[in-house]
Amino acid sequence: ADNTSSPAPIRSSWSGKWGFILAASASAVGLGNMWRFPYLAAKYGGGIFLLVYVVLVVTFGFALMMAETALGRKTGQSAIGAFSTLNKKWKFVGILASIVPFVITPYYALIGGWVTKYMIAYITTPASEIASDGYFTGFILQNPETYFYLIIFLLLTILIVALGVNKGIENVNRVLMPLLILMSIGISIYALTLPGALSGLAFYLIPDFSKFSVELVLGALGQMFYSLSLAMGIMITYGSYFSREHDLEHSVRRIEIFDTSIAMLAGFMIIPASFAALGSGEAVMTHAGPGLMFGVLPTVFNSIGALGPMLGFLFFMLVFFAAMTSCISLFETCTSIIADGFKLSRKTAILASGIFVVAMGIFVNMGYDNLLWMDPMHSLFGLGEYQDFQLLDFFDFISNTILMPIVALLTCIFIGYIVKPQAIIDEVKLSSAFKGEKLFVVMIKYVAPVLLVVILISYTLNTAG
Ligand code: PHE
Repeated sequence: ADNTSSPAPIRSSWSGKWGFILAASASAVGLGNMWRFPYLAAKYGGGIFLLVYVVLVVTFGFALMMAETALGRKTGQSAIGAFSTLNKKWKFVGILASIVPFVITPYYALIGGWVTKYMIAYITTPASEIASDGYFTGFILQNPETYFYLIIFLLLTILIVALGVNKGIENVNRVLMPLLILMSIGISIYALTLPGALSGLAFYLIPDFSKFSVELVLGALGQMFYSLSLAMGIMITYGSYFSREHDLEHSVRRIEIFDTSIAMLAGFMIIPASFAALGSGEAVMTHAGPGLMFGVLPTVFNSIGALGPMLGFLFFMLVFFAAMTSCISLFETCTSIIADGFKLSRKTAILASGIFVVAMGIFVNMGYDNLLWMDPMHSLFGLGEYQDFQLLDFFDFISNTILMPIVALLTCIFIGYIVKPQAIIDEVKLSSAFKGEKLFVVMIKYVAPVLLVVILISYTLNTAG
């Protein structure tokens, strides 16, 4: 009785299953893993955050990623088309999801600019100076240089997308990613030898249940969407290129394991070291924020000695490439949304979304400059009594804490009750068995939507009250 059962024609495919896994991983692994995960884990009490995060990834994240990729493969379309093909009235979810990359890209590129700055600083500036107190804030606050790095990072991204050399960049990443992992392991091991770091390790690994809160779950949830590139339509598009010959479930599991391992590794690198520097879990929690990576790792490089500057340069260069591939994927998404939505040529779409992200990026950066007084987190949501928020935090909050949970909730309802889980299960089974079928159904129909509703409501009540 529905018109959705006939398989859509398959578009140009990835070169095999690993082509998909690698492309999705290049999009997934980025600043979310290296920069955002460690500071959230530190902010929300270490082990308990890690535990909640991992549980969410293997249950909810798994179900949602299966749903999105299968939705894409089934319809052969990206987000807006995929939703409207299955049900015209649900097109708005695709539209809502499409807003997310426009919110993320500008501030993502701003952090990308910071990374670029640090990479260059290790050539031009003594490691001890980069490690000194106030170096980071001195750089980001009211400093014209930040616009320069932001724009360089964005122009590079736009140029790569415009020239269509993304694949080449991904190949570079394929070589550099293993290097990033090896280096992170090396830095983690070294960081653990710092005095006091072992109690930091305990803080990171042993859950303290008294630190559990609704805010923590929402933070972990938003981070999971962000890091796995979920709830913003991207995995739908990626799934639309995935061939029916290959095992979807296996690929999704690989991406999750890879992405989560790298995030955990970044935590090993940063959290014990910040514990060593600050002396207690409470101190780590109050100091954790967007600047954590830029404050802690330089002190580690500075303590290494003669090799420090070279390692610092190498490290930030690797993070730069990881960030660049993710930003390319984000900008590519913005471009195709504009091109499809307004029926524009690719060239015009690149120009239009390029102008938008540059303008927005500058605006977000002004939050550290002449708009430092602006605090929409406080004025709109009543947040930030104890903490200073900037425009960057505001946009991060809008995408990760508000839009993505809402898109995820609507996707669950759409799959669970409108198209029905069976449609997704059938799609998955076209290529292989579906081992996590039961988990998938229970998560999509019951656990995830209930969890999301409870969390969103209690959070609203909390912040409103
Ligand atoms: N997942 C990326 C990261 O962790 C960010 C990203 C989100 C990239 C969405 C592409 C699309 O950094």
